[in-house]
Amino acid sequence: MMHQMFGYAAIMAVCLVGVLLAGCTQQEQSGGGGGGGGSSKGSVTKAPYGKLSDGTAVDVYTLKNSKGAEARIITYGGTVTYLSMPDKDGKFSDVVLGFDNLEGYTSTNNTAYFGALVGRYGNRIGKAKFTLDGKEYTLPANNNGNTLHGGTKGFDKVVWTAKEGSSTEGPSLELTYLSKDGEQGFPGNLNVKAVYTLTDDNALKLEYTATTDKDTVVNLTQHSYFNLAGKGSILDHEVQIMSDQTTPVDAQLIPTGGYKSVDGTPFDFRKPTKIGARIDDKDTQLQYGPGYDHNWVINKPMGQMGLMARVTEATTGRVLEVSSDQPGLQFYSGNFLDGTLGGNGWKFEKRTGFCMEPQHYPDSPNRPEFPSTELKPGETYKNTIIYKFSVAK
Ligand code: GLA
Repeated sequence: MMHQMFGYAAIMAVCLVGVLLAGCTQQEQSGGGGGGGGSSKGSVTKAPYGKLSDGTAVDVYTLKNSKGAEARIITYGGTVTYLSMPDKDGKFSDVVLGFDNLEGYTSTNNTAYFGALVGRYGNRIGKAKFTLDGKEYTLPANNNGNTLHGGTKGFDKVVWTAKEGSSTEGPSLELTYLSKDGEQGFPGNLNVKAVYTLTDDNALKLEYTATTDKDTVVNLTQHSYFNLAGKGSILDHEVQIMSDQTTPVDAQLIPTGGYKSVDGTPFDFRKPTKIGARIDDKDTQLQYGPGYDHNWVINKPMGQMGLMARVTEATTGRVLEVSSDQPGLQFYSGNFLDGTLGGNGWKFEKRTGFCMEPQHYPDSPNRPEFPSTELKPGETYKNTIIYKFSVAK
């Protein structure tokens, strides 16, 4: 109790000094958002970002932690538009690809899912259909006759309800969305919650949960394109993936079933290797990408939080460590970027950003041998992803 009172007195004093020096606005609140147990580190601010053609307002939330790192998230698609992290000299740069305005994200030219929260089923479902409890469900076929990232209007294209979170680890934002029974062909009303925290140790932590009122399938993930140099090609970034196997695919990137050892193939990232070292090798799997666009089976029990991948960039010293409790990691090397899109003063040319998407394996609803993506009423779907940044000197 004494501690609590002392805490309140300290917060009041800080606010008073804040008001005197700069003016404490309602927008700029403590990272805890005033919620139960929140810390006073960092800040969360909200500003209008634009309007959709039907008039729906989209906001941008800026999370700043106590180390000067910054994340911007828009309510359209739960999209991370900007993520600023320090390099080895303490210089901050945006390490994700993003557009400068809402029109960039809503444009029909944007087929790249920059920074988006993808769902209800991230990645591909073969032939745009699956059978659950003996019933066949048909989905929108938006990718060569298959369903990619939840259909024509996936979670990346809806406006999420936002409120400040109450994490003790740093400033946070809570996004929620109700995906109605039958939306994009999927069964069950799905209540989704995504909590984004910019922790004070420079990690972007994403906690996804979902519940349903009917049996359904769920696979949520994050689709940020990272570039640890803040610009240019990603081919010199070094990648390590904690995996001995991939799930091989056909020419449309749909798993053909079973697993394949990475041994002796360009998919062996057990030791840190440059993305560009083997990307153009004459390997059929690689040519389907063309480049890396595959699922790695992570060497750890499913549901257990652990390191999946580590990426380093020598010129800036930036290091990204990707952890999650999911069974798979889709590593995509930005093969479909072609320079027609851009933002932040540069063009997103081929292989100028890479995605590390912790998730279930592609096409799991049609692959009984893969870990199940089914969610039943009474259960809670969970995926926690941590993108942790640091520097190697
Ligand atoms: C995913 C897919 C890629 C590509 C991108 C978006 O990561 O696996 O094939 O479709 O999204 O361009």
